[in-house]
Parts: sequence; C-alpha cells; structure tokens
Amino acid sequence: MRNSSRGAVDPFIVMDVMEAARQAEDAGRHIIHMEVGQPGTPAPALARDALAEAMRDNPLGYTVALGLPALRKRIARLYGDWYNVDLDPARVVVTPGSSGGFILAFSALFDAGDRIALGAPGYPSYRQIMKSLDLVPVEVQTRAEARFQMEPSDLSGIDYQGMMVASPANPTGTMLGRSDLAALIDACQAKGAAFLSDEIYHGIEYEHKAVSALQISDDVCVINSFSKYFSMTGWRIGWLVLPEANLRQVERLAQNMFICAPHAAQVAALAAMDASEELDGNMQVYRENRQLMLDGLPKAGFDRIAPPDGAFYVYADVSHLTDDSRAFAKDILEEAGVAVTPGLDFDPVRGGGTLRFSYARATEDIREGLARLEGFMRARGLLV
Ligand SMILES: Cc1ncc(COP(=O)(O)O)c(C=O)c1O
Repeated sequence: MRNSSRGAVDPFIVMDVMEAARQAEDAGRHIIHMEVGQPGTPAPALARDALAEAMRDNPLGYTVALGLPALRKRIARLYGDWYNVDLDPARVVVTPGSSGGFILAFSALFDAGDRIALGAPGYPSYRQIMKSLDLVPVEVQTRAEARFQMEPSDLSGIDYQGMMVASPANPTGTMLGRSDLAALIDACQAKGAAFLSDEIYHGIEYEHKAVSALQISDDVCVINSFSKYFSMTGWRIGWLVLPEANLRQVERLAQNMFICAPHAAQVAALAAMDASEELDGNMQVYRENRQLMLDGLPKAGFDRIAPPDGAFYVYADVSHLTDDSRAFAKDILEEAGVAVTPGLDFDPVRGGGTLRFSYARATEDIREGLARLEGFMRARGLLV
C-alpha cells in the first residue's frame, strides 16, 4: 500500500526513549523516569468517583460535538477564577486532549500551504501535526536571553498566516510576561494572522501566575488540557477557546472528525475541576522536586540551566559535553538507569547539545535520579 508524503513525519523521540526504558525494565532493570512529561499521580479522586457513579446508570453514549454543556460552563468559570476573564461558555470547545484541539484548530484556521511561526525549542508535535495537514511550520530560533520565547523582532521579514506560542513552555518551562505576550499578539494581529496560545501548563506555575492570551485579546485561539495540572493524561480530554466567529466551523469539523471527546473523560474532567485540595497537593510535590533539581543538577555537572517558571521540566545546555544528545541520553539510560529526553525532539537545529529533564514524578525518584546522574558524570570523569 502507498504512503502519503505529508504523513512522513518524524518520530516523537521521547516516545522512543520511553520504549527503550520499558525494554530495560522488562529486562529487570530499575529505571528512573525523567523523560516523561506526565504526572505520576492519578486523576483526582473526585474525578474517579464521579466516573464510577456515572458508569452505574449512564450509558455514556456520544455527547454533542462541542462537549457536555456543564463542562463547557465549568471551564468558562475557570477563566473567571484564574484570570478574572468573563468567558461565554459558548466559546469553549471540549476536545480529545489538546492534541485533538491542535488538529481541530489547525484544520479550522489554516489552508494547505499556510505558514505558522513557532519558537524553537518547542513541543515537537506542533510541527509534525502541521506537516501532516500540509501546513508549513516556520521555526524561529529563539534566544537564551529571551528565555527561549519568541520576540516580535524574530519575525520581521517573515511571512506567516499563524503564530503559536506556549507559556509555560515545553521543554524550557519559561513563561511570557504580559507585555511580551501582548507584543506578539499585536504583531500577529497586525499581519491579519491567527494567534494560538498553548496554555496546557497553566496551573503549574511557581513564582507568578501565567498570563492567558484571553486576558489580552478575544481574537485568539487558546488551547488547554486536563493532562497536566489536572493529572489526566491518559483520559484524552482538553479544550479550545475560540472567537465566536470561528465556532461553527470548528463544530462542523469536530462532528466529522471526532463526533465528541470521550464521554467518560468529560464526566471525570468536570469533577476534577473541583479537586483543588488534591491538585494543590500535587503542586507541592512539583515545587519540592523543582528545588531538588535546581540544587542537584548543577551538583551533578549539569550547571547550564535556568529556573523554570512553570511546567515540570528543566532544559539543560550540554553542548560542552556532547553534540549528540541522542547518544548521550542513550548512555545515561544504559549506564545510570535514568531516562532523559534528547533536545533534538524540541529543536532539530541546536538540540544536539541539550537535554530535557522532567521532574513530574515522585520526589524519591527525583532524589534517586539526581544521585545516579551525579554517579554517571563522575564515572565519565566529567565531574571533579
Ligand atoms: C506543550 C504541550 N502541548 C500539548 C501537549 C499534548 O497534551 P495532551 O494531548 O495530552 O493534552 C503536550 C504534552 O506533553 C505539551 O507538552
């Protein structure tokens, strides 16, 4: 059977690392997981209880394409609680994860051949999904001084029909302040391009609350998810917020592409939004883990790092240690039993000299992982 050329996307390297780690575990090794971008915690108890109850007397058939009205209403309320933004629930679209949201949003907003500006390093699937939809990701090499976020000056002379940012970002955990975000939105809107803001790590912030693009403009597409703050990765549930004028088109696409997001996950997500005590507990763990990483990574010889503003990643410059982060990550897995993600996933140009460490898992794992990393570097003579 033939294959399409637009479907010939790159693998998501972290998934390959996860597979290598799984094979090592199958062979009886104990692996510390610093590669995965997901919480080690389950969905909040309230969510699991709500679903258990629903399973008794609810057939959990299709929902309407845009999602359960109660969930859309509850998500709209979050914008009031978190950002003091009064959001019409009609503008909320429930999606199968933010990944489903990307497919919907990109299909609704862009035509084949359209160009979308993105900062590198960045979440790899943006560019692969775009490619599979015949869109052109235009990757902008961001500056370390700008904390690896795009700046309007990066875009001068570049033609684009869309711009996409993430704050807090993956892999760096850096955030855009209000004025920097507003400057990007202004530049994008001045060109008549569509602005997309991936806000999946909102809620996981350390010093300051993240700014939502909706605090700045209504004419943006916000993408969010229950995967991270709400600890529901495998449930495949997220949402979009769109301008009113784009809703009907998105609804028609959602009806045809997905019919609806998983009903069971919608029931659980609605209840998860009231689990603030449990979710605050998860945040305490991330906070402690972050501090351990900021102290322990430099001690282990990974000293070219910046404190993340949010999410649960540290992006380290290891260009003085290797120019092949993939091979280096493989050695760390084999010799130290710690799975980490090569930067090539996030930045094909400079990622040969970077690694991403995730601290989303249990604190004991973080302590053990740091000790193993230190041992690895010492054994290689890279630490004196
Ligand atoms: C920045 C970013 N956006 C989107 C996603 C996809 O998340 P999901 O489809 O689980 O909502 C991820 C997953 O790691 C991510 O890091």
